[in-house]
Amino acid sequence: MKLSAISLVLWWWAAAASASAPEAVAVVHQLRPAVGWGAQLVREKGEGVITCGSWRVGVEANNVRGWRTIPAACEGYVGHYMLGDRYRQDSIVVAIEAAAHAAALRLAGNGSDVWVFDVDETALSNLPYYARHGFGVEPFNPTLSNAWVNEGAAPALPESLNLYKKLLSLGIKIVFLTGRTENQRDVTARNLKRAGYHTWEKLVLKYCIYLFITPSSSPS
Ligand SMILES: *[C@@H]1O[C@H](CO)[C@@H](O)[C@H](O)[C@H]1NC(C)=O
Repeated sequence: MKLSAISLVLWWWAAAASASAPEAVAVVHQLRPAVGWGAQLVREKGEGVITCGSWRVGVEANNVRGWRTIPAACEGYVGHYMLGDRYRQDSIVVAIEAAAHAAALRLAGNGSDVWVFDVDETALSNLPYYARHGFGVEPFNPTLSNAWVNEGAAPALPESLNLYKKLLSLGIKIVFLTGRTENQRDVTARNLKRAGYHTWEKLVLKYCIYLFITPSSSPS
């Protein structure tokens, strides 16, 4: 699947390139002939030089898979994206489209209309945590990450909170569905309320096997 997806993209690129003048491919714009958007360079093993922007598009298209950390050279690139205006702009686009979709729905209006939100990086933002931990350059650390979650201090992603309020005003009920586990139910509920999500129909967390294994339950 990965190879066919990549070859499809390459085929499309080759077709597009051959259809236009070769020099138009070599230089997209005379005034900015370097590397364009996402100019930080990443050297991947044996693959020459690519930019952080190209790596990101590869990830978003799911052609780059199985990555555990972002390339070290891209910390600044991701940090500027997240802390600057662009992340919020991209969030606004998604929220506008989602609100338009909701407004166009033919609702049953009998209390059975439900909208499902993910929690992390959707309803809540863990940006304060990632800003202290290299924006994904550091390998994921479950201990530090859980300690952050247990503070219950994650802010709302403002565009998601706006969407949430619009959905409620349409009479749609809210379900939160998260990869967090049952042992984080209380802190997650508290965090959601603190961030402005005051009501929901259900908060669905992952089953947590560790809740049921205690030293005293080991077979004798
Ligand atoms: C609400 O309306 C929908 C669509 O008409 C129907 O499928 C559903 O069973 C209704 N639910 C309740 C609780 O009445």
